[in-house]
Amino acid sequence: MSPPTKSQVLRTQYEAWPYPQVPLLAALPSTHPFELNVAWLWDRSGSGPAPAKPRLWIAGCGTFQPYAFAVANPRAEIVATDLSETSLRIARRRCAVHRQKHVQFAPVDLGDAATWPDGQFDLIECYGVLMNLADPLATLRGLRQRLTPRGVLRLMVYPHWSRQRVFQLQRLAQLLGLTATDRHHPALLRSFVRALPKAHPLRFAFTTYADSRNDAGVVDGFLHAGDRGFTAFQLGALLRDAALVPGYWFHRPWAQPDTMAQRLQFPDRDQSFVLNYLDLWQELRGNFVVCARRADAPPRDVQPATAHPLFAGDGHALRHRLRLARLRLLGGRVPTRTKDGDVVLRAADVRTLQREEHAAALHDSGLVLGGRDHGPRLPAHVDFADEAGFLQHTTALRVGRRAPNPLFSHLFAAFELAARHPELRLPDLESQLGRWLPWADPLEQRPIRFGLTPYGTCQRYRTNVLEHLARGALPTAASWDDTRLRHDAEALGHVRSLLRDHGELPARAHTGGELRELAVLLFTHDQLFLTFE
Ligand SMILES: C[S@@+](CC[C@H](N)C(=O)[O-])C[C@H]1O[C@@H](n2cnc3c(N)ncnc32)[C@H](O)[C@@H]1O
Repeated sequence: MSPPTKSQVLRTQYEAWPYPQVPLLAALPSTHPFELNVAWLWDRSGSGPAPAKPRLWIAGCGTFQPYAFAVANPRAEIVATDLSETSLRIARRRCAVHRQKHVQFAPVDLGDAATWPDGQFDLIECYGVLMNLADPLATLRGLRQRLTPRGVLRLMVYPHWSRQRVFQLQRLAQLLGLTATDRHHPALLRSFVRALPKAHPLRFAFTTYADSRNDAGVVDGFLHAGDRGFTAFQLGALLRDAALVPGYWFHRPWAQPDTMAQRLQFPDRDQSFVLNYLDLWQELRGNFVVCARRADAPPRDVQPATAHPLFAGDGHALRHRLRLARLRLLGGRVPTRTKDGDVVLRAADVRTLQREEHAAALHDSGLVLGGRDHGPRLPAHVDFADEAGFLQHTTALRVGRRAPNPLFSHLFAAFELAARHPELRLPDLESQLGRWLPWADPLEQRPIRFGLTPYGTCQRYRTNVLEHLARGALPTAASWDDTRLRHDAEALGHVRSLLRDHGELPARAHTGGELRELAVLLFTHDQLFLTFE
């Protein structure tokens, strides 16, 4: 029998664990999803005024997005599709409960264009899905063909570097024999990770991951049957090869590549370079979210300033009108989806938005369309030719005295990039740290000794890191079976005894290499360097 395809594996996962797990009655205030409004997304992406009745396709919609997009786009024709019929059933029920009637649902495999809905779309939303596809480029090319000439594709993919802790937790779960196919495994993983020391970065990463509180979220994050991250260079190349151009990055204002290029003094670089740098230094603070346009789209268009349609009174639902009336009387807060802080509106601001005349004065609120070009000015992408070599280097198991601890390999990647790849024209590490100084958020200020961000770690261990860089390359081992820890038998004994203490975990015979890898993942979080023999 041939092995199941990736789509079959993921269908099984998302049929059993529809995502996200949100109570059916959880309601969104009608002004909350203003950044999901097609007119707003077209404006930010430089596509000019959107059609009055846009067509919208949510490709891989899960259980919640159809409702949010329906609220954000009361006049749109919305097609919501997913591989998982269970997810579609929940999404359909949610829309019915909240009286959102303008959404159609259909089962679709994004890996098989024959199943796709007909026609072209003004907005295609593909959020957190592309990394589940066997051939992301083929899917992206197909989606690009379904865009209207000015249409916008909003894409979210996981960032390779910022998500390393999640990938390490996935590896930990795998080594513990935990999978998405057993109903009890999310709870087992949760209790195992919560028993780690408080200062362990894997425990910190797990408990601060919002989805870890519910089982479907634990599966989607840590027991996933096949996701991956993209570096910014990989994402840039993917967009280019699919004949798409980034029109607006959804990280405001921190990770807008233009802002960061300016702050970090990289004025002559491309978006992929800057975003890669942010991701590597763990300052992306989220996933990659980009609105892309067709490479052959008409030039960027800046329309005259107008109020956001949702605040100018669009949307007929009684609840929406009541909410606007309340804002007009009392003012209030409108949350942003980019977690960039709430928009605080005074009652007078809302009245201004509704009168439209002075809407431009409220530009900084984000609730005004037009009047400004929000798009990136940097060139989109220049290849990092030897990125594959660099990625291989960062995952190699280095042996010798004071070798980089694999638990921190992504931090060493940030320390080592400049020295290993002079063609990228990065300043040396000292001078990079100086540039970060005014901007970096050293997460290490939380109750973790070190190991969350390269910046915070290097602040504390600068001498050791510089010594490491001065040493040059160390030999590598082919696998965990081909090397030994300094007190190998003792470390393996600790792991065996921990596994015995967690007798509820599935019985599994581990190789010496697997036990060693577990020892490093579990017990070495306070050592930046380890000795491998
Ligand atoms: C991480 S969830 C994201 C759901 C939704 N976009 C959101 O942001 O809440 C991934 C979704 O992609 C869907 N999916 C995975 N592979 C797919 C495929 N080949 N075709 C269509 N949908 C797919 C899953 O069923 C799941 O609902």
